Amino acid sequence: MYKILEKEDIAPGEKLYVLDAPDIARKAKPGQFVIIIIDEKGERIPLTIADFNREKGTITIIVQEVGKSTMQLGNIKKGEGILNVVGPLGIPTHIEKYGTVVCVGGGVGIACIYPIARGMKEAGNRVISILGARTKDFIFWEDKIKTVSDEFYITTDDGSSGKKGFVSDQLKDIIDNKEKIDLVMTIGPAIMMKVVSETTRPFNIKTVVSLNSIMVDGTGMCGSCRVEVDGKTKFACVDGPDFDAHKVNFNLLNDRQKVYLKEEKEAHKKCRLEERISGNK
Ligand SMILES: Cc1cc2nc3c(=O)[nH]c(=O)nc-3n(C[C@H](O)[C@H](O)[C@H](O)COP(=O)(O)OP(=O)(O)OC[C@H]3O[C@@H](n4cnc5c(N)ncnc54)[C@H](O)[C@@H]3O)c2cc1C
Ligand code: FES
Repeated sequence: MYKILEKEDIAPGEKLYVLDAPDIARKAKPGQFVIIIIDEKGERIPLTIADFNREKGTITIIVQEVGKSTMQLGNIKKGEGILNVVGPLGIPTHIEKYGTVVCVGGGVGIACIYPIARGMKEAGNRVISILGARTKDFIFWEDKIKTVSDEFYITTDDGSSGKKGFVSDQLKDIIDNKEKIDLVMTIGPAIMMKVVSETTRPFNIKTVVSLNSIMVDGTGMCGSCRVEVDGKTKFACVDGPDFDAHKVNFNLLNDRQKVYLKEEKEAHKKCRLEERISGNK
């Protein structure tokens, strides 16, 4: 059992969990993820390690409640436990001194970009962070990310915080201002990563995305996380999750994300019904 030491609502439908996981915390590096299994009947849920504390032996995950398993997780209370947490998995983000690195996080991807921005800052880079969300309610960790950023921007779709528009608009402004950018790191919804990638492509700015493909075993055995990169099949769990954005086939990624849509809808409906019967919601 992995005990939930802290649990917090950080945005509508998004919760933060601090887990007691000393073995994982000791080895975790920016860009890596864990797979959690809630109970004996639980699905495997891949989640990025949003923060880790080696001294305290804790890892932080931030979870958007989108379907059956993430909602089930939302019902587990602080002090209770999760059956299994496997990790750290995936190749860590390559951190070195590039010069100027722009870190772009969208939605729940804001959580995932934090350890990368921190790692890039610690390596001596000038870090420009751009966070984006639908409205100000979905922006979190503003102060935390500011502390590891030399420049910091927020964009919201409705203009309720920062600049009205998308993260890619802010990125384009920075490019148009002729700031020299050596690397762009981006994590968020697939469509956002695709647009960021198209924004940097004409300027030949190296761009890295962290792909959230469908994952099952997370060890390279099942093949469900396959993605096409540079015309070749790669497994996001063992070859990634980071890939050169300009070589990713985002259309295929989008299509594959929908593979289990029917089953997910049915599971979601069943979960809601069970919750109502048990009087949970
Ligand atoms: C490497 C990686 C890191 C991730 N990090 C985070 C994170 O930090 N925070 C966060 O909120 N979410 C993260 N996700 C997405 C998260 O795993 C899914 O939202 C979750 O599995 C949905 O489960 P569900 O049963 O609640 O929803 P479902 O109803 O099963 O699915 C809803 C949607 O979630 C996606 N999804 C479902 N199952 C999987 C799966 N096994 N693998 C990947 N995507 C799936 C699909 O796009 C699907 O349409 C990450 C995914 C990957 C692959
Ligand atoms: S999740 Fe099974 S091969 Fe990657």
